[in-house]
This record gives sequence, structure tokens and C-alpha cells, in this order.
Amino acid sequence: MSDTPSTGAKKRIFSGMQPSGEAHLGNYLGALRRWVGMQDDYDCIWCIVDEHAITAGADPASMPAMVFDLAVSYLAVGLDPEKAIIFVQSDVPEHTELAWLFNAVTPVGDLERMTQYKDKSQNLESIPAGILNYPILQAADILLYKAYGVPVGADQKQHLELTREIARKFNAAYGDTFPVTEPLIGEDVGRIVGLDGKSKMSKSLNNTVPVLSEPDDVWARVRTAVTDPQRVRRDDPGRPEVCNVYSLHAFFTDDTTRTDIETRCRAGTIGCVDCKRILSDNISDAFAPYRERARQYLENPDQVRRVLNEGAEKARVIARETLAETKQRMGLNWREALS
Ligand code: TRP
Repeated sequence: MSDTPSTGAKKRIFSGMQPSGEAHLGNYLGALRRWVGMQDDYDCIWCIVDEHAITAGADPASMPAMVFDLAVSYLAVGLDPEKAIIFVQSDVPEHTELAWLFNAVTPVGDLERMTQYKDKSQNLESIPAGILNYPILQAADILLYKAYGVPVGADQKQHLELTREIARKFNAAYGDTFPVTEPLIGEDVGRIVGLDGKSKMSKSLNNTVPVLSEPDDVWARVRTAVTDPQRVRRDDPGRPEVCNVYSLHAFFTDDTTRTDIETRCRAGTIGCVDCKRILSDNISDAFAPYRERARQYLENPDQVRRVLNEGAEKARVIARETLAETKQRMGLNWREALS
């Protein structure tokens, strides 16, 4: 699927991330880098979904800093408040109100079929309803802004299908109100595998690199990366095709150097440590402008506050309108109806 919209007015897209603090390499490669590139072509809304985070039992004491740090990462990597609306979900109460209204058209069976629901509820003795209803809030996030598309990873495809189903069901029951949103699944990157060489990159698995790390800290993480397990000694021939460090080079290292690394790895003339060093240096160099921008925001936290305040205000203008229309469709408008 192409990221190029048709000509004419820009189409609106919406996406969000849970506030788990500073963004990491997986967030960047899998999502943020693509979002940045979409900002000129689409009318973009970027959210920090803190009300989704509470379904996973997020710690209240650390939540504010998690939200703030993710906002700094958003801005540091180039999400641009001049071009896009950037805001925090809980600042716009229309999200949860619309989610409640969507309860009326969402089959419980559909919620129970979600693989993420099954995974998250698997080992719980008592399952919070929020884990089950999570995709309803996600549908509300998206449809509150009548988004045409949602750039997400393949892991969110099922939730997007449910969003589409909710839009269709609502429209059928109450009249045409919502678009049937397109999932814009990034095809250029597959699953970003973590430094452990096996699981999806994630902060909780501690197999990634925070985007704003200083070069020494990038190296401290990258040097732990798992490479070809068959390579024991430095001069053993390696197999780049099974090595995750090699696959990460694809994002950060120029073709000539990569070809050279591949040849020397196969010949056993470059060791894994040297190969990781090149990767680590290239990551640090690529992210240097982000560290600089983050530093400016961290020195002026009021700027971040201002961005999020203005973002929430702009979001609410759209949100109020959609919510009023939705309530009217559902007959929750006695005052206007009887005047
Ligand atoms: N569920 C998404 C995730 O875990 C986060 C999310 C919440 C989201 N609301 C959204 C993504 C709306 C896209 C659109 O990644």
C-alpha cells in the first residue's frame, strides 16, 4: 500500500502509542520514522494513549513522566506541531464518551476473538473489562476524528478490522456517520527483532535502545546484541542472513559498508564486536539531531506543555463536533430535539 494520498484535500490519519516513556529503536523503526514522513502528505493526528495504558495496570506514580517523556521523544524525532495535532488522550474526554457509545454496537464475541485480548488475559485470574474493551476505545480514538487511515504495525491489524466493523455497524443502525477506516500497514519493515535476536523489540523485554541515549549508552546496549549463534570465535565464518545485528545495519549503514561487512563476516575477517561497533556508531550519529532537539525541550518543559495544550484544544474542536453528531444520531439530544 502506498503512503501517497490522492490529490485534493489532505486525508486525515490518526495514530497513537502508549506512554511507556522515552521512545526506543523499535518505536522509531516501526512507527515514528514513518509518521514523520507522512506529515506533509496527510492531515495527521498523533496521540499519546494514556487511557489505554491503564488497562495494563500502569503505575499511577510514573504515568505523568511516561507521558511527558514520550511527548519529548515524539517532538525530538520530528513529529511537528506546526504540521500535525499532537496531544494526550486523557485531555480529550470525548474519547471515552464515544467509546461508551460504541459499546452499543460492538459484539462481545468480536472482542473475545481478539488475539491481543487472549494473550493479555491468559494468565489473569480476574480479567479487567478494560482489557476486553480496549479495542472499543481504540475505535473511538480513530473515528472521533473520522480518520481515513491509521498507520500501524501488522500487530494492530485485527484491532483496525474491528474499528471498521464498529463503523459499519454504527452506520447501519443509526445512519451514515463514520468512514470505514483503512489500516495503513507499513510494508517496508517487517517485525523489528530485538537485541536478543528473537523477540519483537520492546522496552519491557529490555532488548532495545532508547532513541535519546548518549553514544556510550547506545554502545552498552548494542554490544550485548545476540549475533549468529554458530559463530563462536572471531574468525569463524558468519551468516549475515541469520544475524539480527546485520539486519539492523540495513536501517543505519550505507550499502557499500554493508556489502563489505557481509563479505568480511562470511569470510570470518570481521568480528561481531567490530560489526556492532559500526552499527552503534551509526545509530548514535543518526540520532544526534534528536538528542539535540530533546535537550532543548527538556530545558524548556513549558514548550512541551504548550504543544500538548494546543494539540488538545485543536483535537477537541473536531472531537466535540463528532460526538455531538453521534449523540444526535443515537437520540441523546433531547434538549435540541424538543426545543
Ligand atoms: N493499540 C495501539 C498499540 O498498542 C495503540 C493505539 C491506541 C492506537 N489507540 C490507537 C494506534 C489508535 C492507532 C490508532 O500500538
